[in-house]
Amino acid sequence: MYTTLRLPLALFALHVLPQVSGHAAFIHPSMFGFNVTAQTYSYDNRPVAPIKNMPFSQWWFHNHLDHPPNPGDLFDLPAGESATAEIACTKGATSFFASAEGGDIRNASNPNDVCPGSPMIEYHTQGFNDLEGCALAIAYKSDVGEVEPEDFTVFSVNQTCVWTRFTDFRVPGRMPPCPEGGCICAFFWIHAPDAGGEENYMNGFKCNVTGSTSTVPLATSKVARRCGADPANQKTQSVPGNCTYGAKTPFYWFNNERNNMFEGAFSPPVYNDLYNFLDGAQNDIFQDSYSFLPDPSPTAPMPVLASGSSNSNSTLGGGSNSTTTTSGGKKKTCTVKQPSAVPSLAARGVGGYEGPGGVGRRRGRRLHYSERRRVWDMWRF
Ligand SMILES: *[C@@H]1O[C@H](CO)[C@@H](O)[C@H](O)[C@H]1NC(C)=O
Ligand SMILES: *[C@@H]1O[C@H](CO)[C@@H](O)[C@H](O)[C@H]1NC(C)=O
Ligand SMILES: *[C@@H]1O[C@H](CO)[C@@H](O)[C@H](O)[C@H]1NC(C)=O
Ligand SMILES: *[C@@H]1O[C@H](CO)[C@@H](O)[C@H](O)[C@H]1NC(C)=O
Ligand SMILES: *[C@@H]1O[C@H](CO)[C@@H](O)[C@H](O)[C@H]1NC(C)=O
Ligand SMILES: *[C@@H]1O[C@H](CO)[C@@H](O)[C@H](O)[C@H]1NC(C)=O
Ligand SMILES: *[C@@H]1O[C@H](CO)[C@@H](O)[C@H](O)[C@H]1NC(C)=O
Repeated sequence: MYTTLRLPLALFALHVLPQVSGHAAFIHPSMFGFNVTAQTYSYDNRPVAPIKNMPFSQWWFHNHLDHPPNPGDLFDLPAGESATAEIACTKGATSFFASAEGGDIRNASNPNDVCPGSPMIEYHTQGFNDLEGCALAIAYKSDVGEVEPEDFTVFSVNQTCVWTRFTDFRVPGRMPPCPEGGCICAFFWIHAPDAGGEENYMNGFKCNVTGSTSTVPLATSKVARRCGADPANQKTQSVPGNCTYGAKTPFYWFNNERNNMFEGAFSPPVYNDLYNFLDGAQNDIFQDSYSFLPDPSPTAPMPVLASGSSNSNSTLGGGSNSTTTTSGGKKKTCTVKQPSAVPSLAARGVGGYEGPGGVGRRRGRRLHYSERRRVWDMWRF
């Protein structure tokens, strides 16, 4: 299916937009590989090229460590607010088209078009209900050469990604300041299993947390576990005790070295409730976030959030009895019954959101109608 769809597309791209054929990447001057083209390496190593079956040196930072950003180019992460990233299938479709080989190919009638001139399969989804999410991770080191895979912690997830060029990532309010020289970040994405091959995406960039109000460091990140409901794989119920809570590493999957995920081609690890990556800011990633954090297992007791340790906008409700979620453009505030414990699945189901894995759509959750409407409205322009 994938091959048959890609062939006419490739022909089309060849005739009309030679540089467009590809997938999707985080694109910003702070990134490693900003000016890398299909000709820079002996193989196509554009930032949008997927990575799989590669040795560590080739997949880590997309092998772009020799193409660092210019000094001073950092991607700002305002604590407690949102950072807007641009995700596109070519630099020409972003605000940074000036240094793109093909110039400006942005869609004049739809600024959110991820891949002008290409059908949706180009960014690996069959439709809005088929999105699997993407993530931003951070390492509190300023020298990229010192960053190891285990140093990254996912701090923000957008479960409805990749869908719009401008994609918001909520930044936890308690992110501590970066070292002098800033931090190192990376964008991670794994496609929906019915919309492409076993492909990973990783784009590294320099970042900096601004407006910090806390100095509590991030906890050591752990590998996320597949704990949500997974009806496609005959698992109808989520298993909350089996989830990894707190700081989690990104997925390193389907390469030849240093993988931390070993799922098969048709059950890829994904950045949503299936792996307890809740939508938005990951507010429970700090050293003081939990007062009790048992090792996860199907029979493990639930962890307990430390009171006062999370910011008041935390989805997990730590230190607060309220969680705020946005649904259809309206803010809703809901009361969580267990202030010091991880809220029950029902409590986390406010505003159309479901707990780990929920019971909604096939992998992860089904979006509330109003959420779908909101994105469709944006998409239409
Ligand atoms: C990318 O290319 C543009 C245009 O040539 C140049 O101004 C910019 O400095 C380059 N950026 C990097 C990081 O090499
Ligand atoms: C919580 O959200 C409100 C608006 O939604 C924002 O003004 C405030 O800064 C946030 N607080 C924290 C600690 O993130
Ligand atoms: C631009 O976006 C509109 C609305 O989504 C779409 O109908 C049109 O085909 C797009 N144009 C190109 C060149 O992709
Ligand atoms: C994901 O990005 C979209 C598009 O920018 C945005 O509307 C949505 O609020 C973001 N979701 C979260 C949880 O930040
Ligand atoms: C990072 O942001 C902080 C707070 O705004 C600022 O003091 C610092 O100079 C920034 N670091 C870099 C490398 O720009
Ligand atoms: C628990 O998590 C592990 C690791 O991701 C996974 O292999 C296993 O299927 C999960 N078991 C249950 C019952 O959720
Ligand atoms: C949350 O509610 C409990 C009892 O319902 C109360 O004792 C506690 O002070 C509340 N916590 C906050 C942060 O409002």
